[in-house]
Amino acid sequence: MKPVAQAVLTPLLRESVAERIEKLAVLDGAAELVQKGVRAVLPSGSAAKDVASGTWLGHPVHPPLTDLVVGSWTSAWILDAFGGKRVAPAADALVGVGIAAALPTAVTGLSDWAELREGPRRVGVVHALGNSTALTLQVLSFLARRRGARARGVGLSMAAMGIAGFSAWLGGHLSFGRGVGVNQTSFEDFPTAWTSVGDESALDGGDPIRRSAGGRGVLLVKHRGTIHALADRCSHRGCSLAEGKVKGGTVTCACHGSTFKLADGSVVTGPATAPQPILEVRVRDGKLEVRARKEE
Ligand code: FES
Repeated sequence: MKPVAQAVLTPLLRESVAERIEKLAVLDGAAELVQKGVRAVLPSGSAAKDVASGTWLGHPVHPPLTDLVVGSWTSAWILDAFGGKRVAPAADALVGVGIAAALPTAVTGLSDWAELREGPRRVGVVHALGNSTALTLQVLSFLARRRGARARGVGLSMAAMGIAGFSAWLGGHLSFGRGVGVNQTSFEDFPTAWTSVGDESALDGGDPIRRSAGGRGVLLVKHRGTIHALADRCSHRGCSLAEGKVKGGTVTCACHGSTFKLADGSVVTGPATAPQPILEVRVRDGKLEVRARKEE
């Protein structure tokens, strides 16, 4: 028999809450407008976009920042609840640390959200509204604490934590349920044996082509006489790189502009944070063959 929490809470939250929010098409109009604004401020290929995405870190930067906000506020909550008067200044300071960390956290979250569509975009809207409400309550709490209205300040923080907790759960749904921020090539297992993927002559036009090896998409392109083979599924959100643009030894994804080096798959510009897997490639009797690169 399933444990009660799993039998009741899991379907209640995921199906009744997250999946219902994903169907709220009424949010789309406003979301589209805000996304346009975010993309204008943080355009693809800009240094600011790469900083906000975590391209420099090799990992999305929004999730660790949320830990700072939620961790500070949770610590303050524990001190408020069990610490007594002696630790009140520490609790107040932690509320302030969470407020200060909320701004970069919101910017990085908006940057990631600007590339989402449909259900995940709608969940992101509710996630952002919840976070904004929690932040407002914590700011009011911080001001009340500074004025000496401690009970009111603690009450406001408690309300903020309830909303922030729900909002964090929605963020978890986006990451773990919908794969936002996850390296989309993580589960791309290419054949370890040489696998034929068609005629070499298909590359003569110079355009990138998509072929399948063991059921996985492979991007093939000939650049300055060298044939390159990369995972076709973009590590950012999974678009086909074969639909992108090849230029100067790089391929740029048509969806959000991430650019990867053909030679080694490394990220030149984000929003991708993970490199593109490359495959070994050879030509036998006019046929292209690829296989997974051996781990060094
Ligand atoms: S899917 Fe977003 S840049 Fe490729």
